[in-house]
Amino acid sequence: MGEFKRTLITTALPYANGPIHIGHLAGVYVPADIYARYLRLKNEDVLLIGGSDEHGVPITLKAKNEGITPQDVVDKFHAIIKKSFKDFGISFDVYSRTSAKVHHETATEIFKKLYDTGKLVEKTSEQYYDEENQQFLADRYIIGTCPKCGFERAYGDQCESCGTSLSPTELIDPTSMISGNQPVLKETKHWYLPLNEYEPWLKEWILEGHKEWKPNVYGQCKSWIDSGLQPRAVTRDLKWGVPVPLEEAKGKVLYVWFDAPIGYISATKELFNSRSPSGKDEEGLWEKYWKDPETRLLHFIGKDNIVFHCIIFPTVLKAEGTYNLPENVPANEFLNLENDKISTSRNWAVWLHEYLEEFPGKEDVLKYVLTANAPETKDNDFTWKDFQARNNNELVAILGNFVNRALVLTQKYFDGKVPARGELSNYDSETLAAISTIKSDVEKSLSSFRFREALKNAMDLARLGNKYLADEEPWKIWKTDSKRVETILNVCLQITANLTVCLEPFLPFSMEKLRGFLNFGKQEWSQFGNTNLLAAGHQMNTPELLFEKIEDSVIEAQLQKLLDTKKANELAEAKAKPAKESIEFEDFGKMDIRVGTVLEAEKVAKTKKLLKLKIDTGFDKRTVVSGIAEYYEPEDLIGKQVSILVNLEPKKLRGIESQGMILCAENADGSLSIVSPDQKIKNGSEVK
Ligand code: MF3
Ligand code: ZN
Repeated sequence: MGEFKRTLITTALPYANGPIHIGHLAGVYVPADIYARYLRLKNEDVLLIGGSDEHGVPITLKAKNEGITPQDVVDKFHAIIKKSFKDFGISFDVYSRTSAKVHHETATEIFKKLYDTGKLVEKTSEQYYDEENQQFLADRYIIGTCPKCGFERAYGDQCESCGTSLSPTELIDPTSMISGNQPVLKETKHWYLPLNEYEPWLKEWILEGHKEWKPNVYGQCKSWIDSGLQPRAVTRDLKWGVPVPLEEAKGKVLYVWFDAPIGYISATKELFNSRSPSGKDEEGLWEKYWKDPETRLLHFIGKDNIVFHCIIFPTVLKAEGTYNLPENVPANEFLNLENDKISTSRNWAVWLHEYLEEFPGKEDVLKYVLTANAPETKDNDFTWKDFQARNNNELVAILGNFVNRALVLTQKYFDGKVPARGELSNYDSETLAAISTIKSDVEKSLSSFRFREALKNAMDLARLGNKYLADEEPWKIWKTDSKRVETILNVCLQITANLTVCLEPFLPFSMEKLRGFLNFGKQEWSQFGNTNLLAAGHQMNTPELLFEKIEDSVIEAQLQKLLDTKKANELAEAKAKPAKESIEFEDFGKMDIRVGTVLEAEKVAKTKKLLKLKIDTGFDKRTVVSGIAEYYEPEDLIGKQVSILVNLEPKKLRGIESQGMILCAENADGSLSIVSPDQKIKNGSEVK
């Protein structure tokens, strides 16, 4: 690492308006955690920073929809998110939140400094205002017709039908989503970060100075810079957020993308406050991590966050003048789920807190699959079949199988004591030497943030062990050459002990378990490559299985869950049929519809759908056969009032004469709901 003494790793702060899903994990938290664990094993000075992003318009919209306060929304999700990260084993040094006091103070201070040193530009412009609610409207609060494609529900910032970026004033017939009224244009003052002035510096710093950034990251930066940077407002007319610390800015808050990345700084302060006995970081230890040029700053994010972390936040830090800039921003692409974009609002996700409940003890399996299939260079797909296959064919069949055979054979032949090594064959020596080669491969991949390659390299150590054991077949020579078996198993156990170091950053729960079987303590990374980690005579414990097979039924249940989501979404999104052709009133008048009461109800034998009902129509009692058996229990219908078409020609159904028809409404999924009067009414009353 050379010039750096310590590393500060930040992870994108997830919005506290929903739980964590596999897309978040694969894109940001799993790779960041692997990296932090790796550096800690190397005894490096490292911090892993996280927290919830609790401001922004979507949170206020959710609160409004649910009739609760924004603080209620973020309290709920911050708790869920924080717990799921902890249970999953993301090894944050601190997990903070942007509604915290320390964050409000920090964000305020940085804004103030930029303001006081003349780094911000003040500008008055006309923006849409809702007169009824007396508030300016965030772009997302305004809908109207898209000027490009004519879609009628385009948002003020973007048309979701054709994808065009819009500004609210471009919308035709804009409507306030809060009141439903037409908003008016009104002048408002805001403070802007003049990105345009930083263009030459950004070109120099990124385009010249950071050519080593991942191509997807570098490419996005280049295209932003090349298309010309505009001043960006860092304040908003909104009630929820960090108040702008200026007399003349009453009712305004800092733009969420201004305050959120400052959350990394606030969280670091919170960490050192909490580490100090006085509760206050008197010495300002946090500053070492943000301002000492010997600290390396890394931002782990998803691709939708690139411009904010590579251009806007660095410009804020540069303008402030005393902070380090990121050394690298290893952003990932997106993970899809079963060929569809992950979506919180459409519930199309594998939620971390649900996974942890449904797959107890399998944290590492998910980490493994998400790393092995990480969307590092392109979008990738998570499928449950692949999850099962990677567990069964890799974790169980390669890693688990090798370790288990080595340990079980040692139990069987040597009562669990590590046998001594005799003279080594060439193959033994080559095998032991390969451990160091694998080590440098893993290191190389990790140092350039290629985590899937790093994991593949690390698994090569288990492959090496498997092959060695299969080639040597100690069980075949035990009777004739037990000395040779001692050597073979010693080699296998050294490989196993090395695995506990090699895979520790990737599979921390499983490696802890494995160390338990080996009766062996946690080692530093520098021990990886040592071929005498376990001394001859060392007593090990009775092993158990490290991983277990995942059965088809488990996978099918998960797929069924997704199928149910899909159905529910289709139902919610289904459009109602347009009206039929007009008719004369006379046509309607021909139908004699009455209210009647169900007297008796029973299933029609050998049918799934039919019920036979006896109805009191007020003027007679008659039998009606109705296709509602899948939706109503007969006993629940007795005494219920229904609408019945009484002058429909009688018809025989399954040998029963049906004298009329019960009126039902049909849902989009084909299910039926009886149309009943909303209060008790005299039998025989006409429906008209
Ligand atoms: N909440 C944002 C998102 O989920 C990420 C914020 S990252 C930070 O896209 F730097 F602003 F904190
Ligand atoms: Zn459009």
